[in-house]
Amino acid sequence: MFARSAARKLAARQFSTSAARNINVTVLGAGGGIGQPLSLLLKLDPHVTKLNLYDIRGAPGVAADVSHIDTASEVEGFEADKLEEALEGAEVIVVPAGVPRKPGMSRDDLFSTNASVIRDLATAAAKVAPKAHLCIITNPVNSMVPIASRVYDRAGVYDPKRIFGVSTLDVVRASRFLAGIVGGDPADTPVTVIGGHSGETIVPLFSQTPAAKRITGEAYKKLVHRVQFGGDEVVQAKAGAGSATLSMAYAGAKFTNALLRGIAGEKGVITPSYVRSPLYENEGIEFFASNVELGPNGAEKIYPLGQLTAEEEEYLKACKDGLKKNIQKGFAFLD
Ligand code: NAD
Ligand code: LMR
Repeated sequence: MFARSAARKLAARQFSTSAARNINVTVLGAGGGIGQPLSLLLKLDPHVTKLNLYDIRGAPGVAADVSHIDTASEVEGFEADKLEEALEGAEVIVVPAGVPRKPGMSRDDLFSTNASVIRDLATAAAKVAPKAHLCIITNPVNSMVPIASRVYDRAGVYDPKRIFGVSTLDVVRASRFLAGIVGGDPADTPVTVIGGHSGETIVPLFSQTPAAKRITGEAYKKLVHRVQFGGDEVVQAKAGAGSATLSMAYAGAKFTNALLRGIAGEKGVITPSYVRSPLYENEGIEFFASNVELGPNGAEKIYPLGQLTAEEEEYLKACKDGLKKNIQKGFAFLD
């Protein structure tokens, strides 16, 4: 009795809810450092009806464990050779499969290993669940989203509104780090983060958060740098044992919850995400993170950036240079 109400309270605090609707979610890479806590958090999300957990190793064990949690959703684990079965009926697919960084590596150093993982998983998803919303956590996100998009395109099922790069951890960090300086609850200092998900391609728009306006000069530069390189902070602290897993699982569950609420018909669900975007398409940048309104068809509306300061314009310039190369590299992998 206590456990049930405790789980419900935790779920209610963790996730916003909207009108109930049955939604099957599949996690690809569910046995990993992100996959396990992400699966736990998705088990707590009241929007999830069925949770399919897949990995090349260990998913049935994670599923057995998570399935004992007393929330309403059903959980099923799938062995390595059961990828297509894991994807059947999926409406949302969340992908934290692939290798993480070690100290001294850039996200781009993961490209050669993770590009094949994303190509193969996207190929299966395009075949079995072509209309599912695909949320890519795997790094380098900037290049993995173009790869998955091209795979769907070649399979003749590409819907640009349904493929997302999960950049939510940058948003979470920006808000947390800002609140650490100005005080108060991070929920009261939301920050729009645009661009991509690696180093200089991450651009927090602090000028659009009133509480941040008093942070200027060196303090401002330090804050931007911390958001851009927050991932390195964790990689170094973990000293070879991987990169952010728990905060990423939180961010992944937060993004998935926003998408599920949008799918369920809630209006005004807006969050930054790295998607196919018209904003800088004419400069050869087909994918870009900005505020996106989520709805039943996925990325229903892509918002322009709004007014930027001169400093933010400079950051944006560097972002665009890096992003363009990352996107081209993703496309080139499949040529
Ligand atoms: P991990 O090594 O702990 O887990 C990865 C899991 O993927 C493993 O269980 C592995 O068996 C599985 N896997 C590998 N190939 C697979 C395949 N073909 N199909 C299914 N599963 C497969 O790594 P992690 O710490 O969970 O990180 C996973 C990825 O997420 C990394 O690429 C990392 O860089 C990235 N990441 C992204 C963000 C972000 O903000 N988007 C944040 C943190 C980490
Ligand atoms: C992060 O931002 O923490 C992730 O992209 C993982 C990493 O490699 O830094």
